[in-house]
Amino acid sequence: MPTTLLFELSDGIARVTINRPDKLNALNATVISELGDAVTRIETDAAVRGVILTGAGSKAFVAGADISELAEQGPIEGKARSMAGQLVFRRLERSGKPVIAAVNGFALGGGCELAMACHIRVAAEHARFGQPEVKLGIGPGYGGTARLPRLVGRGRALELLLTGAMIDAAEAFRIGLVNRVVPADRLLAEAEALLGTILENGPLAIRACLEAVDAGLETSLDQALLLEANHFGLLSATEDMREGTRAFTEKRKAVFKGV
Ligand code: COA
Repeated sequence: MPTTLLFELSDGIARVTINRPDKLNALNATVISELGDAVTRIETDAAVRGVILTGAGSKAFVAGADISELAEQGPIEGKARSMAGQLVFRRLERSGKPVIAAVNGFALGGGCELAMACHIRVAAEHARFGQPEVKLGIGPGYGGTARLPRLVGRGRALELLLTGAMIDAAEAFRIGLVNRVVPADRLLAEAEALLGTILENGPLAIRACLEAVDAGLETSLDQALLLEANHFGLLSATEDMREGTRAFTEKRKAVFKGV
């Protein structure tokens, strides 16, 4: 049984909650390991169709890597810690299931990095974002220098990375770091409604979109277009595509089976 994580599955949605509220859900080695186990289940359990990731309590999503562990590490351990977290976050990002971060408070350092490894971010109005690692004399270790510039552009990313400054949810929305800002008491409902809208669509098509954007952003335009065309062709061999197009012409709601 995980000790730092809650995993609830209902109606195809896995609700994963980082559960160390007394430490503002800081990511220690146990959280990373248990998050890895949760990702394995997300990857392999066909009953999981989408994921909502949030933090316990109302104050923090995740306030970063656990600073008490960082304080003890040497260079070999530091690199290993970074790579272990990066791997878990990357597996989540490439799980093939849509993942929405419901950011319910501070998303700092590893917390901002975890939110960025999710496909979509919905933030409560009181959420705060930042990469304050430089204030500790260290840099981001869980993907901050890689994902932040991809999301908000080089200049804005460097300003956040170099100053370590915190921004509020409205500013995070303005620069494209979050998709939506909602009242705190509506956060989970709004994230679930958004995920529900996504899950009404063809699951193979969703998976293809996730893969094409993930791989396509890292390659040339021509390679990205070829990947898209390959997906377009492959999806044309699915029952879901027949069902989706038939349902349109028959003016009814499609019933997708993921085949
Ligand atoms: N690692 C370990 N413990 C953390 C933590 C972290 N990243 N962030 C918060 N905590 C712990 C605090 O040490 C405190 O524990 P204690 O009650 O045993 O002393 C508890 O969580 C509550 O945090 P506290 O600092 O008292 O809350 P606050 O409201 O005064 O401040 C923050 C909130 C988020 C501004 C502040 O906790 C903070 O700056 N955290 C570190 C953020 C950071 O640098 N993250 C990047 C790490 S690489």
